[in-house]
Amino acid sequence: MAILEIKHVSKFFGGLAANSDVSFEMSEGMIMGLIGPNGAGKTTLFNCITGYYPPSKGEVIFDGRRMNGLQPDAVCKLGMARTWQKVRPLAKMTVVDNVMVGALCRTNSLKKARELAMEQVRVVRLDHRADFLAGGLPIGERKKLEVARVLATQPKLLLLDEVMGGLNPAESEEIIRLILDIRKLGITQMVIEHDMKAIMRISDRIVVLNSGEKLAEGEPQEIVSNPDVIAAYLGSE
Ligand SMILES: Nc1ncnc2c1ncn2[C@@H]1O[C@H](COP(=O)(O)OP(=O)(O)OP(=O)(O)O)[C@@H](O)[C@H]1O
Ligand SMILES: [Mg+2]
Repeated sequence: MAILEIKHVSKFFGGLAANSDVSFEMSEGMIMGLIGPNGAGKTTLFNCITGYYPPSKGEVIFDGRRMNGLQPDAVCKLGMARTWQKVRPLAKMTVVDNVMVGALCRTNSLKKARELAMEQVRVVRLDHRADFLAGGLPIGERKKLEVARVLATQPKLLLLDEVMGGLNPAESEEIIRLILDIRKLGITQMVIEHDMKAIMRISDRIVVLNSGEKLAEGEPQEIVSNPDVIAAYLGSE
């Protein structure tokens, strides 16, 4: 069974179709890459999937259940969590306290939440920073913190919006490792990313958006040799 079904999803802002009749499915445990030019509608699709916006048309089915109309906190409790393109940690709280906020989605016990949070801080390899204030972290570590916060909600499906954006090659490599580690935990992932080398390495399949519409879908090799994708996004380098 598909863990996520996107069925004819459209999202209109006035006259602008940020998403237009987008359909695809994800099977459990896979990594789906979501790519496309700036303004293609990638983040909007994340917002429609995770309850930040209701889709104007179409349906989002997660784990067999219709998500339309559910609020983000309800969606998160059902097992879907997303990161934000622009990371905004709670700057005056420590790393582990930031992650506890995610863990409190699953427990009312502060002690238990702290344990869950520390586990995820270790998964993203920030244990040496656990008691640092989040506001003082460099960007590479903020991005890892963002991933730890969502992992602490114990998702079945994780949606990552440009977690490698603004990182240097060594930092990006660490995030790639992290995404592959998360796959080993059995968590399904959808990953928005502009770095094609990275997306090729991690994705089982890729969906390409352009001007709100699905331009192509397939395995990474099919996508990079697709003339429409090359014309709209990749160029001929
Ligand atoms: N809340 C909003 N109100 C009005 N227009 C919006 C809103 N959110 C997004 N848009 C518009 O929808 C289109 C798609 O934006 P979106 O942020 O989804 O693109 P994206 O593919 O994530 O781009 P990027 O790669 O730059 O992050 C853009 O034209 C954007 O200006
Ligand atoms: Mg975006």
